[in-house]
Amino acid sequence: MTKIWYNASAMKILGIETSCDETGASIVEDGVQIISNSLASSIAIQREWGGVVPERAAREQIKAMIPVICESVKNPRDIDAIAVTIGPGLIGSLLVGVETAKTLAYVWNKPIVPVNHLVGHIYGCWLNPTSITKNLELRTEKKNSDRNINSPEFSAVVLLVSGGHTELILMKDHGKFKLLGTTRDDAAGEAFDKTARLLGLSYPGGPAISAAAEKFTIYNLQFTIKLPRPMIDDDSFDFSFSGLKTAVLREVQKQKNLAGGFVTAMAYEIQESITDVLIKKTMRTVKQFLPKSLLVCGGVAANKKLREKFEEEMKNYSDIKLFFPPVEYCTDNAATIASAAFFNYSPIPWQKVNADPSLEIR
Ligand code: KG4
Ligand code: ZN
Repeated sequence: MTKIWYNASAMKILGIETSCDETGASIVEDGVQIISNSLASSIAIQREWGGVVPERAAREQIKAMIPVICESVKNPRDIDAIAVTIGPGLIGSLLVGVETAKTLAYVWNKPIVPVNHLVGHIYGCWLNPTSITKNLELRTEKKNSDRNINSPEFSAVVLLVSGGHTELILMKDHGKFKLLGTTRDDAAGEAFDKTARLLGLSYPGGPAISAAAEKFTIYNLQFTIKLPRPMIDDDSFDFSFSGLKTAVLREVQKQKNLAGGFVTAMAYEIQESITDVLIKKTMRTVKQFLPKSLLVCGGVAANKKLREKFEEEMKNYSDIKLFFPPVEYCTDNAATIASAAFFNYSPIPWQKVNADPSLEIR
């Protein structure tokens, strides 16, 4: 009996995400429980080119979109609404998802909710980290009662760190955001990507730098590298990472060749520099606003060192809860988009849904 009530009352939203190089479709129930999640990435092509080539990304997404949706949606009757990323992002890529979502909304007669990709990243912090429940029959009353126990409370300070954005946000309620600070040049993820490239590491740079830094031992101390921590003591909540890239370039130019020991030492110091700045600025924000929750999200939130440093810092604030999305839902995916749509449910006619590559958070 419980099972029937549970399934009938829950709202299942299909999220569609194509803002950059990923093609994602995911069904999320009541904004927290991931029912299905499919993601196709053109990462092999991006690696070959050292980054995302917009036209190539969009072409791959056109091929992947329908198979990815078919993998996530077994029957259109399983979903109550469709959510789609409308921006920010690459226009060609966004159009693939937006036009597909509009077509499905029309053909399946479902409400459609436009979602800001950045807001989606934030709602990664609401996703239930337990594994995907593929079989509806397997879900139990216990899972239902578990949900939301650990959901963020408001107000929340948000650090959103991705390949294109580095933002400190005050979130007073669902959908109520105040931008406190942003990067004046490169984003944190971009800093990882660009410095990794200078070191000859693969794309995307964040995971590559993190893996290289893990090999750091005292033997690497022969390379005495000290990189700057840009704007770390600046009074504003803004960031700047382009100076770091220049500093890395200067160190690389001093080397005759990129020996493994040097790359390891450099990767370690880059990760320390970026994470030190992110931590110090965010903690200043936390001290000033004393929120109920701190949310750290976006691709860079997958970084292990960043997570460890935040856990350590937050030991001094036992009444403020710290949230990260599950690691695999930090980088772009469609579950975050479905979750954002649930908590900010405002469908509009499909004819009015349009891609907006320069959408901001507000
Ligand atoms: O959120 P995301 O998937 O895409 C954007 O919306 O930009 O973030 C991608 C960024 C890339 O710059 C990538 O290098 C970075 O997230 N990233 C990481 C890690 N995993 C991904 N940075 C540091 N450590 C990681 N483990
Ligand atoms: Zn993203």
